[in-house]
Amino acid sequence: MVDKETKKQDVDKLSGVETTGHEWDGLQELNNPLPRWWLIVWVVTIVWSLWYFVVYPAWPTLSGATKGTYGYTQAKELAESQNEILKRQSNYLEKFETASFDDIMNDRELYEFAMAGGHAAFKENCATCHGTGAEGGKGYPNLNDDDWLWGGKVTDIHQTLNDGIRVQGSYDTRLSEMPAFGRDKLLSKTQINDVVEYVMILGGETDLTSLPGHLVYQENCASCHGQNGKGLQELGAPNLADDIWLYGGTRKDIYETVVNSREGMMPAWVNRLSQNTIRQISLYVHQLGGGEE
Ligand code: HEC
Ligand code: HEC
Repeated sequence: MVDKETKKQDVDKLSGVETTGHEWDGLQELNNPLPRWWLIVWVVTIVWSLWYFVVYPAWPTLSGATKGTYGYTQAKELAESQNEILKRQSNYLEKFETASFDDIMNDRELYEFAMAGGHAAFKENCATCHGTGAEGGKGYPNLNDDDWLWGGKVTDIHQTLNDGIRVQGSYDTRLSEMPAFGRDKLLSKTQINDVVEYVMILGGETDLTSLPGHLVYQENCASCHGQNGKGLQELGAPNLADDIWLYGGTRKDIYETVVNSREGMMPAWVNRLSQNTIRQISLYVHQLGGGEE
């Protein structure tokens, strides 16, 4: 009776709610019931944790942990997801292997598969010489532009990769040798200076036929670089009439090329990489810049 009476007195005046009788420095605790949503969440988590203890490994024991009725392990899950990836990859690979370049370029999924593989393989095998962005450097062609030494069709690129360029002892390699006109005394110093001068202004507007280098050029260089200097892809002879230079476009650079020749070399990849990888890289390089149709 007394108890009840004191309790009755413990009602918060502002809210009209009973208090628990606990008080801290004048702050009183209201005796509200727990919110329903909270109770539901609480019960659900208890039920969930009981279920979890049973089906998943949960209780530490001396020899590891309880196994759980699902037999779940992280290693198993990893293996399963790796199998899944391998399966998906081999699905693509199978299709990729038998598809022609045209087929692949017309199939968005296969093409994307090739781009991903080609990009990764490029970074691993080609970036050392051609740069990670395939931007090239002195002696190493930029693969982003539409200026091609040996041809920019995907089949040209594929052949370049398979057989390499100037690979010693190979019958299949892409081969052409610009003579070392100075070192091998094929031209006099004056003739070389004249032809260097000629190459420097080649491609401009001026009429070059009256220049002393004209005859030297037509007799010694045109067979590979073309009469107007546009180059010849069958011989890997660069265009000399544009502003793109593999070995530099200063008088000194061109002089050095004509005197000693350059003979850039690229390894053949046919025995180093799988045919699938080479085909993926070919497509990747083809799309980088000005891949030709
Ligand atoms: C050891 C250095 C080196 C490596 C590694 C290398 N290349 Fe090359 N690559 C060259 C050189 C040098 C040339 C130019 C050869 C020439 O003067 O004709 C070249 C030329 C090319 C060409 C011909 C470009 C054109 O304009 O026709 C392509 C395409 C090419 N490389 C792609 C690749 C790819 C793809 C890889 C990786 C699988 C690769 N290269 C790895 C040095 C290298
Ligand atoms: C047998 C074919 C051939 C003949 C003949 C030839 N060249 Fe070349 N030339 C090439 C090839 C191939 C290259 C690419 C060089 C390399 O990577 O080794 C080249 C490269 C060059 C380059 C460097 C271009 C650059 O982008 O840096 C110059 C300049 C050049 N030649 C000038 C001449 C001149 C001048 C003559 C004549 C005196 C001549 N060439 C004769 C095949 C030839």
